[in-house]
Amino acid sequence: MERLQKFIANSGVTSRRKAEELITEGKVKVDGKVITELGYKVGNNSEVLVNDIKINKEDKVYYLLNKPRGVITTTKDDKGRKKVTDLISESKRIYPVGRLDYDTTGALLLTNDGEFTNMMTHPKNEIDKVYIAKINGILIPSDIMSLKNGVVIDGKKTSKAKIKVKKIDKINHTSIIEITIHEGRNHQVKKMFSTLGYDVIKLKRERIAFLDLKGLNSGEYRLLNPKEISKLYVLLNEKKNSK
Ligand code: URA
Repeated sequence: MERLQKFIANSGVTSRRKAEELITEGKVKVDGKVITELGYKVGNNSEVLVNDIKINKEDKVYYLLNKPRGVITTTKDDKGRKKVTDLISESKRIYPVGRLDYDTTGALLLTNDGEFTNMMTHPKNEIDKVYIAKINGILIPSDIMSLKNGVVIDGKKTSKAKIKVKKIDKINHTSIIEITIHEGRNHQVKKMFSTLGYDVIKLKRERIAFLDLKGLNSGEYRLLNPKEISKLYVLLNEKKNSK
């Protein structure tokens, strides 16, 4: 059994918020009866009509994209910029799982599965995201400790992070740092470095959990295979059960 607004949103016809509006406006019928109650439970075999058109449950799809620079991670943009969803030819309404900045490149998941998105982006589920950051300057040991233990951004301390210094360029005074975090706060990596006085010149997400960019050039994408999807669910359940 599933809440009616969720059933409609999962069918891909509209968002959950819009589905709620449709329900309260009396535009939704379940098994021949108008239902205006939010949260009404429908079963797998219920016939649901929206504006008298039958809707079907949609198959779930999961993509891994190697996001290029200069593409926005939203499904709408007032400024007419290119969106990540423009890069994937898929007739279902898919959306990104979390965000990467306009100028950040690398691994991004996209799906039509709202529940999966919520689980993957919830910080309590601790899905590792591995970034490679090129920064101006060379981290001193106390900065490395601060980044590892958490720094305060937007009034809240970040969770523990893993830091590896991959390369130091003493001539140009830049470094390449691998940073692993499991939160997804707004501009988190850039803000973590900037609190310590470093600018991030380039940022790439190399990996989400065990999913890396092997075989994907910039702008390329692929479907996750069933094994990868169930492995992600195993990870998510392990975290849930260890709490
Ligand atoms: N942290 C950032 O600062 N930017 C991103 O795009 C992702 C993580």
